[in-house]
Amino acid sequence: MKLNQIKKAYKNYINFGQEKYVSLFSFSKDIFTKSAGMYIFTDKKKKYLDLTGGMGVLNHGHNHPEILFTRLKFQKAKNLEVHKNILSPHLAKLSEKIYKILPNELKISFFPNSGAEANEGAIKAAYKFFEGKKDIILHSDRSFHGKLIATGAISSPMKNVNYPKFLKNKTFKFNDIKSLKKTINKYKSKNIFAIIIEPFSASTFSSCSYSFLKELRKICNKQKIILIYDEVYTGWCKTGYLFYFMKYSGICPDILTASKSLGGGKASIGMYTMKSKIFNKSYGNIGDSLLHSTTFNGFGEEAVTALKAIEIMMRDKYDKKSKNAGREINKNFEDLKKKFYNYNMSIKGCGCIQNITIGNNEIKDSFLRSLLSKKDYKKIGILRARLFEISILDYLYTKFSIFAFHSPGKLVISPSLIIKKQEIKYFFKALSETLELGREKLIKIYLTKNIKSIRRL
Ligand SMILES: Cc1ncc(COP(=O)(O)O)c(C=O)c1O
Repeated sequence: MKLNQIKKAYKNYINFGQEKYVSLFSFSKDIFTKSAGMYIFTDKKKKYLDLTGGMGVLNHGHNHPEILFTRLKFQKAKNLEVHKNILSPHLAKLSEKIYKILPNELKISFFPNSGAEANEGAIKAAYKFFEGKKDIILHSDRSFHGKLIATGAISSPMKNVNYPKFLKNKTFKFNDIKSLKKTINKYKSKNIFAIIIEPFSASTFSSCSYSFLKELRKICNKQKIILIYDEVYTGWCKTGYLFYFMKYSGICPDILTASKSLGGGKASIGMYTMKSKIFNKSYGNIGDSLLHSTTFNGFGEEAVTALKAIEIMMRDKYDKKSKNAGREINKNFEDLKKKFYNYNMSIKGCGCIQNITIGNNEIKDSFLRSLLSKKDYKKIGILRARLFEISILDYLYTKFSIFAFHSPGKLVISPSLIIKKQEIKYFFKALSETLELGREKLIKIYLTKNIKSIRRL
C-alpha cells in the first residue's frame, strides 16, 4: 500500500483523528517496513533509532531472533493452537513459570490479551471474592488502568469521559496514606472490596514510597480489602526490577496484573496472577470455574512466546540492563541540564521509563503572530503548550534519525532494555544540538515544514 492509501484507509475505516494527530510529525510521512533490535527501517531503507520501546511492549527490542525462532518452530510443528476443553501443555508451562519467578504467595495465573483485560479480570476476581457483599473499589488520583468500560471508569485521565457508573469507585491521593485512610473511613471497609494502584505510576512517572506501600498492605490485611497492583507498563524489568513492587519486601499484592513485554514484542498477551485463597473462593467450584475463562486464554503460540520472553529476560538479566540504562540516561541528562540551565529542565523516572520536562517552554505571542496568518495563529492555539516539544521531536527525527515520543509537556524516553550506552549518548548529543538552535528557531523550522498538517486539525 502507498502512504496516501494507508492514510485514506485510516481516515475512512480506522480513526481519522489519530491520522490527523500523527500527521503533525514527520515520521507520518514515512512507511516503516522492518525493525530489528533498537532500530526501525523505512521502505526506502532509512534507519531510525527507536526510543519509544513500543511504549512498554518492546523490552526485548524489535523482532528478537529467539522470539521469532520460537514462533516459527511452533508454527512448523503445526502445534495444536487452542481448545478450551483440551488441557494445554503451553499454558501449563507458562503458569508454572510465573509461579516460580514471583513471590510464592502469587500462584494462579490467567492470560487475557491486553492490560485492560488483565485489570478487569483482577477486579472481577476481587469482587467475586466477597460474593457481591462489598461493591466499592478505590483507586488513586494518578491512575491509568485501561480504556475498557470498568478500567476506563477508574482511570484518572478519563474522568471527563462519560463512563457508566455501574462500578462504584472512589479516589484517594496517590502515595498519600492520610488521604487513603480518610477515604476508607468515609466509605467504610465493609463496602470496599479492592484497592487498585500502580506502585510506579507509568503515566506520571512517580512512585509510591515504601512506607506508603507497607501501610497500604497493612490496612488491606486488617480491613479485609483485596490489594491489586497494576504493573502492566512497569512489569518485566522496565523500572529495573522484575516488578516494581519487588524492590521492597513484605508488600506483595493479592493480585498482580501485567502485560506488554510479556509477549516479547510479538504476542498480545496480558496476565493476572492471584493468591490461591482468592482463586479458591472466587472460582473454586465447577460452576464458577468456566466463568474464569475466555476463548483466547493461554492461546498456544502466545504462551510459548511469553515463556521464551521470560526466559530471555531472566537469563540476560534485563533488570540490571534497565538499571544501568537508567543510570546512563540520568548521567547524560545532568550534563545536558548544566549546559542548558536556562531551560529549567528536570528528569523523572526509573530504569528505562523516564521523561524530561523542559520547564521554560513558554512561547511568546508576538513571535507566533509574526510567523503566522491570523487563521493559522488561531489553529496553533490548540497546540501551543506542546509546540516546543513537538518541534524538538520532529527535529530529532528529521535531522538525527531518532524516533521518540511525548506525553503532554514531556519528552518520554522509554527505550527497549537492550539499549546500549552509545545509543543513549547519541540521543543526548542529538538533543543537545537540537536545543542549541533555540526555541524560536526550532519552532520556526517545525512550522515552516508542517503548517499544512496543522491546518487540518
Ligand atoms: C499501567 C497500565 N495499566 C493498564 C494499561 C492498559 O493496557 P492495554 O492498553 O494493553 O489495555 C496500560 C497501558 O498503557 C498501562 O500503562
